[in-house]
Amino acid sequence: MSLKQHGKARAHTNIALIKYWGKADESLIIPMNNSISVTLDKFYTETEVTFNPEYKQDRLVLNGQEVTDDEATKIYRFMDLVRERGNTSMYAHIESVNFVPTAAGLASSASAYAALSAACNVALNLNLSDTALSRLARRGSGSACRSIFGGFSEWNKGYDDETSYAHSIDANGWENDLSMIFVVINNKSKKISSRSGMSHTRQTSRFYQYWLDHVDDDISDVKDAIHNKNFNKLGEVIEENGLRMHATNLGSQPPFTYLVPESYQAMEIVHQCREAGFPGYFTMDAGPNVKILTEKKNQDYIINALLKTFREDQIIASDITQTSIEIIK
Ligand code: DP6
Repeated sequence: MSLKQHGKARAHTNIALIKYWGKADESLIIPMNNSISVTLDKFYTETEVTFNPEYKQDRLVLNGQEVTDDEATKIYRFMDLVRERGNTSMYAHIESVNFVPTAAGLASSASAYAALSAACNVALNLNLSDTALSRLARRGSGSACRSIFGGFSEWNKGYDDETSYAHSIDANGWENDLSMIFVVINNKSKKISSRSGMSHTRQTSRFYQYWLDHVDDDISDVKDAIHNKNFNKLGEVIEENGLRMHATNLGSQPPFTYLVPESYQAMEIVHQCREAGFPGYFTMDAGPNVKILTEKKNQDYIINALLKTFREDQIIASDITQTSIEIIK
């Protein structure tokens, strides 16, 4: 009998509408505030993991290439946690493929750690519930805990390892009417990672307390907007929340920003579309790319407006998927 143990899973990327920005506990990855995201159809990661008593070390192959940098070290540390959960000392070989349209470079740690957690769950027969899986994925990268679920997902900050995990928000099928347009301004990896950016901001920003003072209201306004399927209300709140997150970075000492002139150009186009009666609302993460939440019926108008300034290969639209994490046989 082979002692090898094997599992494979697919997870979709998510984009935060209400941002996670700052940790209460850096080693357990407990956030300072709740966050809400949508899970995207077009961007996902498939990961296959094989544990084998004969392996002498972990190994990561991403898109067919062996990875040996800091990212690999982070993953091996995460695998130590998985081994602890599974009560095993076996090393693993991990093969991961990111499905991202064109060479957009929008691969995210969210789908990566969600897929890896689910693959390990199968391989080691951990029998983790979605909640437990969300907690495990969180330990790899905070935003990954939301990628266990499709549609709208909320990460309850909790106060310790047990209580900090995501759950899905019932939107009564509203996801089907919505989409997200990506304006890819820069596909290189981030200069300041979200991990170090949020840590610096939490520790030094003069605006950080202001962020904390308003985020709970944003969370409840977004939930109300989802409940009432009120797109304009949803959009107003998420746009403000995203900009407020970026403002905290400007209040840091020293200050920094992820946004570049082209980001502002894209934001301006979104405003113009809104004035013309085609509402979309933007949000940005730890990089200059702009993501626009819209109703599908207005998607083409906004894309055409963007095409006057940006190249076709810079624009990608995705549906919101309601599919949760999937096990692949
Ligand atoms: C701006 O989940 O990448 O995208 O927990 O340190 O791995 P770590 O950070 P990460 O941060 C994501 C930050 C964000 C907002 C969000 O996704 O909520």
